[in-house]
Amino acid sequence: MLQKYDQRNADLIVNIGGELLHRDQARISPFDSLVQGGDGVWEGLRLYDGQIFRLDAHLARLRSSAKALAFSDIPTDAEITEQISQTLEANQMQDGVHIRLTLSRGEKITSGMDPRLNAKGSLLIVLAEHKPPVYDKVGLKLITSSVRRFRPDTLDPNIHHNNLVQSIMAKVQANAAGADDALMLDTLGFVAETNATHVFIVDGGVLRTPTTRACPEGITRDTILNICADNKIACEVGDISLTAVYRADEMFCTGTMGEIAAIGEVDGRIIGDGNCGDVALRLSMLFRDFVAKNGTRV
Ligand SMILES: Cc1ncc(COP(=O)(O)O)c(C=O)c1O
Repeated sequence: MLQKYDQRNADLIVNIGGELLHRDQARISPFDSLVQGGDGVWEGLRLYDGQIFRLDAHLARLRSSAKALAFSDIPTDAEITEQISQTLEANQMQDGVHIRLTLSRGEKITSGMDPRLNAKGSLLIVLAEHKPPVYDKVGLKLITSSVRRFRPDTLDPNIHHNNLVQSIMAKVQANAAGADDALMLDTLGFVAETNATHVFIVDGGVLRTPTTRACPEGITRDTILNICADNKIACEVGDISLTAVYRADEMFCTGTMGEIAAIGEVDGRIIGDGNCGDVALRLSMLFRDFVAKNGTRV
């Protein structure tokens, strides 16, 4: 599932602080807070048939994260939506598009981490790319990383910030092991998520997912929980140990980048029969229907 360069993205127009620029001209300052300290918040969104899936939920999470980091000038939802709309229009985009929305604390007057050095206000970046779901739908291989996910007593994972180094370290381990991604545990040893997605297992016939104690409040995860409630599919939210993973009948991961993808192997153990299980298959179909009905045209 290593992503490849997509020729359709050769002449992308990127929105940097309201300016629409060819990808080769799109730049940010070395004084920007993202460069200086990863001091920004971000969202990954998906455009399906001209509509953004759960736009309001993504804007709410961006705002919540920016507020938690004490950003002083967060653009309104209407302002952000307008910039997304202009970017999609400039790229003539309609479907199969992933949008990376980033809000930086902005440019500093001099190098340093202190937010008081930020005199120019926040910077919004809208990067829309042609990008179909990036995960293989079946048979993903995971290894368990030795890098642990923080809980709120260390750094609250519900702040969706741009410091991705923890995830990148886990991904480096997965790459070295020839796996697709890494399963990450919290500091108590319970499953948190992968380096980029949330996980669900079917254990003894029961669908289960970890709490968001050590992972972000995922919008795809939340959608799956809503779909379960609407369709009377029981889903337990609670602590999951590696033992439960190894004995699971099914396991799948969820996220905007790859939607729902079945996991076939963890640490060399085959999960179920290694293929997509019945629950993941049913939820994938219900998810498709849900997506069609829950988009916002921008
Ligand atoms: C660390 C992490 N886990 C999981 C996810 C998946 O969340 P969502 O379903 O909102 O895309 C993301 C998405 O940004 C993420 O950054």
